[in-house]
Parts: sequence; C-alpha cells; structure tokens
Amino acid sequence: MSNHVRHYRPTRAEISLSALRHNAKLARELAAGQSLLAVIKANAYGHGSSAVAAALEPYVDAFAVAFIDEALQLRESGCQLPIVLLEGCFSAAELTLCEAYNLQPVIHHHRQLEQVLTSNIETPLRVWLKVDSGMHRLGFASNDIAAVSERLRAASQVADVVLMSHFANAEQAEHPLNSRQLAEFEPLVGLASQLSLANSAALLQPFDSLLQADERRWCRAGIMLYGIDPGLPYATAALQPAMRLVAPVIGLRSVKAGDTVGYGSRWQASRDSVIATLAIGYADGYPRHASTGTAVLARGQRLPLVGTVSMDMITIDATDCPQLCLEDEVELWGPALPVNEVAQQIGTIGYELVTRVGQRVPRIYVD
Ligand SMILES: Cc1ncc(COP(=O)(O)O)c(C=O)c1O
Repeated sequence: MSNHVRHYRPTRAEISLSALRHNAKLARELAAGQSLLAVIKANAYGHGSSAVAAALEPYVDAFAVAFIDEALQLRESGCQLPIVLLEGCFSAAELTLCEAYNLQPVIHHHRQLEQVLTSNIETPLRVWLKVDSGMHRLGFASNDIAAVSERLRAASQVADVVLMSHFANAEQAEHPLNSRQLAEFEPLVGLASQLSLANSAALLQPFDSLLQADERRWCRAGIMLYGIDPGLPYATAALQPAMRLVAPVIGLRSVKAGDTVGYGSRWQASRDSVIATLAIGYADGYPRHASTGTAVLARGQRLPLVGTVSMDMITIDATDCPQLCLEDEVELWGPALPVNEVAQQIGTIGYELVTRVGQRVPRIYVD
C-alpha cells in the first residue's frame, strides 16, 4: 500500500475505504440470500487490490481476478478468501498452484477441461464452468454443457461445479440479447449445484427471476463496489465513489487572445485567458485523447481542459476561476465529479479511466 512510502508529488488517487465498505454492504443487501463474489481484477479496477481485498473481506464470500498472477499477488498480501480465476488457467502447471493456494479456475474451453481431468492434484477444486449463452467471448456452447459437466462431476480432481455465464448487455434490461441469453442458460440450471450470472448491473437491476435471490446463486459484483454505476445512472445515488483523483496546479499564466497552448498548438485562446497547468498526464493514465472541454473540478467549479494532454501535465482554462492559486489541488474525478461524466466527455467508460490510473500515481487510503 502506498501509505507507507513518501511521495513528493502531490498527485494521487485517494481511495475511500469507507466508500468501498458502503458499496459492499449495499451489494450484500441486494444479493440477499445469494453468495457474493467481489471482482477485484486489474488491481481492483485501479483501486489497489491488496488494500481493497482487506477492506472487502468481511462483506464478501470470495474474490475474482482475471488470471493467476493477480491471485498470487493477493495471496502474498495475506488475502485468505477463495479466489476465482475468470479466464481460467493458461497452462496445466497452474492447476498445482490452484490446489496450493485455494484458487478456483473457470473452465471455458476443451483444453482447460482436459488439463483438469488429467492433472494429478490431490485436493479437489471447485471449478466454474462457463457457458457461452450469447456474448460469444468465452465459454462452451450450451449444447456441450451436459457432457462437460458430467465429466467434471465424475472427476476426482473436481470438488464441485458452479455453472456460470456473463451478460453482454446487463445495463440495458430491455436489450433483446438478455432474454436470449437467459433462454440458453435456463435449461442447464439443473446440471450444477451452484449458478452464477449477475454482474453489478444485473444485481442493481435484476431483470429476470433467474437473477433473484436464491442460496444456490453467486453474484459477481465489480464496478459497483468502487461506487461507479455500470451504466444505470439512477444507481449513482446509492453508491459512493471510492476514488478521488487529484493533481496540483504547478503553473499559472495569463495568455493573450490568439495565443496557443500546448503541443501542436491545438488550442487557441479566443479571449485573454488564464491557463493553469496540472501535474498529471497520460503517463499517469489521464487519456491523451481527452479533448478540449473535458471537465476538471477546481475550487468546486467545473473548468475545461484545453489543448493536448502531455505525458506529465495537462492545461486547463482557469479564466473563470480567478481564485485558483499555484499548489491548489484539482480533482480529475471523484465524489464531486463522477468518473462516468468525465468518461462520457472523453468517449470512454468509467471502467477504463479507473483501471488505467498509472503505477506512478500513489493510492492513498483514507478513512
Ligand atoms: C465474467 C465477469 N463477471 C463479472 C464481472 C464484473 O462486472 P461489473 O464490473 O460490471 O460488475 C466481470 C467484469 O468484467 C466479468 O468479466
């Protein structure tokens, strides 16, 4: 955790542990009788996986990451709960590590299936069997599931099977693919003792009885734990954003109407203006393609980014905020400036902005 290292540049991502706990409690309530898997892949969506795991551990039943390296890092930091590998194993050798470290692989293709069935592990593993119900990214075709699950359930290497699938459009309850995916999945529910379908959007807005509380089910909550709505703006009120990305003003100057700012001279002042330079850039994960007009929050006021994002700096038009001073801290996103609002201006999603916050930006854990 970054809290123990001295950082001289004030640029940082403050992570509110109380916000994480609040969101986890909400996920727990919504999950009702279901088990809750906290998705903390990609360094807990950029929030710092070991600190996030420690904060969430009391509220969830297990964690999920994308691949084994992420899981082993969590084990090194003391995380105890079972960890699901959402992409499963990349090689047979990983199964021994799954056994040693209590990791549960997803099995989504035939090679992974054969690797489990021929491995010489002695402690049976829980495995997650993935159905491609229509997203067409990972998983076995629904026609293959009966045979695959029978082989898995008969194998000495397998303790039990959780049947899972993933929605392509859960944030749009009315999307026609949702009902097609449910129709693919429904006939298979008798083939496993445990089932898992819902991501954050489906947990916040269960659009089918297959998503309703049932002790056989596992919800897989990711983005909502970080206080970011997954594309359901009404969810925002219930969630508390966990990340506040801030950078200091390190330059402040007046420019004349007609002057240009930054690389490529891509922004030209249409009036005499005040330009503030902030110590954050694309090497910190602030997207280079963010264009003029993207909001930042200075002294409670939204101000526009102007000109090209540099590696270590951005420039903003502070003409309408005369109080702004050198060393003031400006919020790039956070509780008062939703990351989804910034993402929309940049042409991406909140998921991408938070996961791309760079390694050189310290995560500072507060409350
Ligand atoms: C298989 C799977 N389940 C669950 C999640 C969590 O999704 P969300 O962050 O939208 O809750 C993800 C995230 O990408 C995923 O890949």
